[in-house]
Amino acid sequence: MTKLFRFMAFFAICTINFAWASNANKLADTYTYANYDQVKTTNIYLDLNVDFNKKSLSGFAQLDLTWLVDDLKPIYLDTRDLVIDRVLAKSASGQWFKTPFKLAKRDDVLGSKLTITPKFQATALRIYYASMPQASGLQWLSPEQTAGKKAPFLFSQNEAIHARSWIPIQDTPSVRVTYSARIHTDKNLLAVMSANNVPNTERDGDYFFTMPQAIPSYLIAIGVGDLHFKAMSRQTGVYAEQAILDAAAAEFSDTQAMIDATEKLFGPYRWGRYDLLILPPSFPFGGMENPRLSFITPTVIAGDKSLVSLIAHELAHSWSGNLVTNESWRDLWLNEGFTSYVENRIMEDVYGKDRAVMEQALAAQGLGYEIAELAPGDTQLYIDLKGRDPDDAFSGIPYTKGQLFLMYLEQKFGRQRFDDFMMTYFNDHSFKSLGTKGFVSYLKANLTHKYPNIVSDKEVHEWIFEQGLPSTTPKPISNAFNKINDEITSLMADEITLAQLPSNKWTVHEWLHFLNNLPLSIKTDRMSSLDKAFNLTNSTNTEIAHAWYLLSLKVGYDAVYPAMEKYLMSIGRRKLIVPLYKQLAQTPKGKAWAEKVYAKARPGYHGLAQGTIDGVLNK
Ligand code: BES
Ligand code: ZN
Repeated sequence: MTKLFRFMAFFAICTINFAWASNANKLADTYTYANYDQVKTTNIYLDLNVDFNKKSLSGFAQLDLTWLVDDLKPIYLDTRDLVIDRVLAKSASGQWFKTPFKLAKRDDVLGSKLTITPKFQATALRIYYASMPQASGLQWLSPEQTAGKKAPFLFSQNEAIHARSWIPIQDTPSVRVTYSARIHTDKNLLAVMSANNVPNTERDGDYFFTMPQAIPSYLIAIGVGDLHFKAMSRQTGVYAEQAILDAAAAEFSDTQAMIDATEKLFGPYRWGRYDLLILPPSFPFGGMENPRLSFITPTVIAGDKSLVSLIAHELAHSWSGNLVTNESWRDLWLNEGFTSYVENRIMEDVYGKDRAVMEQALAAQGLGYEIAELAPGDTQLYIDLKGRDPDDAFSGIPYTKGQLFLMYLEQKFGRQRFDDFMMTYFNDHSFKSLGTKGFVSYLKANLTHKYPNIVSDKEVHEWIFEQGLPSTTPKPISNAFNKINDEITSLMADEITLAQLPSNKWTVHEWLHFLNNLPLSIKTDRMSSLDKAFNLTNSTNTEIAHAWYLLSLKVGYDAVYPAMEKYLMSIGRRKLIVPLYKQLAQTPKGKAWAEKVYAKARPGYHGLAQGTIDGVLNK
């Protein structure tokens, strides 16, 4: 190839791959079509009808606009699988005009660009539309898929770029909007949103919401079902189906204590109420930090508060993420790393240092295994997404490496100075979006250069822009876990019997450490004795069952299959099921079994989980 030809070929490839990322040089977020440097949405009004038969939300969205440029420009919005009926634009004098629009061909990652071309700088748009049954941000559940079996259920999951599948919108964390909504449903159903839910709202199928605080599109959220409310404190409560309402309220009764702890550490909770919506088990995440109303998987209702760090996590997002927001999905670690750090500080405050350190140690060990399997480029905090779907690049890196970085800073500067930094960071950036580079300047000015010669620029750079873990990474040390390491050694050397393990005093965390650290050389008859002694195959703690099934698959202990089938059929949370499918796919026998179970389980899973597991089983 001649040099010129090579250059031209390269250029052609770039144009094809990055045609949609044409704003790459100008704007931080390449996952939106929006020209948000020219025009910004400031407020949205949604008027939507919920149709469970058609699996569709339909009605209109009104977007109020602020122009940042003087000349007339088209307005580009994000959509995915929306049917657009008509668009109206409002003039400066308040008149509405029917306006031309064009929906471009669908991109697999970004969806379809909606181009709207009024003849004047519109002050607002009204888009009449309907979502399609396959909307990536919605899951429509039949009555059989709910706990009560009588009423259907709908929930949204917008993060990262799924808001566009049910709202035509500037779908970027760099734009914040206030919103209000009128939602029409069946009379016997209750709708809730990430907004001002009023406890004990009368059920009449006509619901009105306002969210007066500006939030990014990924935090707009809706849930509809046969929901009931139970207060936990004046400020907190639970929405759930009747069958799990009491159990949920009891499990999460420390939520108020968590809010109080966080306010003391990092400043006021700025959002009014904080409620939880407990979703059906197909919810693909553990939790989602929708403002004022976190969405929560029922798989953490263990009966003993052992898995409530999830609530601490989603609550922590009320500071890191919802108040200070990552400006693009490359900067996800600013949301999730800070949140994992704050989560652990809440756990320490409410449940004590020992438990907090155990949770650090479990996460750190998990991260080690994950790094060994990730592409090296994906182990950077400031990740290069390379045009991939942000969902496909999801890992523990932004969470645990981010948390370890902040723990490192805390250790170096001391808790007092670090906490002051964090409090100021939240105050200085509240209701704003921030990117990694902006964060680095802020960190230097307010911490590493303010107290010089403690952490160098080179060390900061290594943590944020380089791969793997720095040699200075904090190593959480749990005495309880160290004891278990010794006990495992003694057990495997037959120096002690199962009966001599102090397991009746173990917490769930100690069990998890035990199961995660049994050697893979363990014989199946020993697995069988463990199972007889502790009934692990039938554990009702979803994390313990997960760890046990994973170990069983690795060491060939087949007695778990029937119980694991039930588990895979009844849970759709990705973190709990994907590693099992991955492990099963390692052997022909396991893969055949997984395919059989997946064929039955797939229709009940959320689209996101389906996408991931289709990939694992190469469907
Ligand atoms: N915001 C995340 C979920 C998320 C992240 C969705 C990125 C889409 C893209 C949520 O706060 C979260 O982190 N959930 C975790 C909780 C866990 C780390 C305690 C989960 O679902 O497992
Ligand atoms: Zn999170």
